[in-house]
Amino acid sequence: MTRQIIVGNWKMNGLSRDSQELVKAITSGLPANSADVVVCPPFTQLGLLTDMLKPTPVKLGAQDCHQEVSGAHTGDISAPMLADLGVSYVVLGHSERRQEHGELDETVREKAMAAAKAGLTPIVCIGETEDQRETGEHFDALGWQIKGSLPDGFNGILAYEPIWAIGTGLAATTDQIAETMKFLREELVRQFGEAGKVIKILYGGSVNAGNAANILPIPEVAGALVGGASLKADAFLSIVSAAS
Ligand code: G3H
Repeated sequence: MTRQIIVGNWKMNGLSRDSQELVKAITSGLPANSADVVVCPPFTQLGLLTDMLKPTPVKLGAQDCHQEVSGAHTGDISAPMLADLGVSYVVLGHSERRQEHGELDETVREKAMAAAKAGLTPIVCIGETEDQRETGEHFDALGWQIKGSLPDGFNGILAYEPIWAIGTGLAATTDQIAETMKFLREELVRQFGEAGKVIKILYGGSVNAGNAANILPIPEVAGALVGGASLKADAFLSIVSAAS
């Protein structure tokens, strides 16, 4: 069995000192034979943390990248720039990017291609809204997002994050996660054939120290994408400890 992966998405939080302290606490408290761990600080902290993380098993991730390699895209960062800094993973199509920056499935797909080309592992996020869940349209919505956001030959990680569960303290129930994971696996196999059987699927949305031990053993859950709880070393390390 492959090791689970716990990804901390720090979102827009942390100045240099906070990030260094958080990384120090995480790396020094990491359990032996721990699950794979990735931290995704804001862009401004990436360079600073590269050297700190180099002698540790913790990998560095970014929270977005542009789909082009270079050019007139003020304020953007390309995948090769991230790779150049020692970044290994990149979160793409997070619902906050989709909502606040109007990112569409097609752009997310292009970004995933650019990331893979630069040698990064893309973590592509999908998730249904509360309305879609309530009206029973969630599987359709997720199916379309998979079809639109994942490029042919996708070799990265899929993160299922129900939008209503993000930052609300209200994680999806274990039944909801189990049922959705089963659906996502079937969709991946339908779209990618054999390769779809091994694409890792993470769950994200209010994962914390208290519920991780119930969520992580659910079949098909290859790990977690953690927001709020990844900003506190003790909470994050408890989640890591709950992973196999
Ligand atoms: O990327 C992480 C997710 O948006 C989950 O955030 O753990 O604060 O709910 P959360």
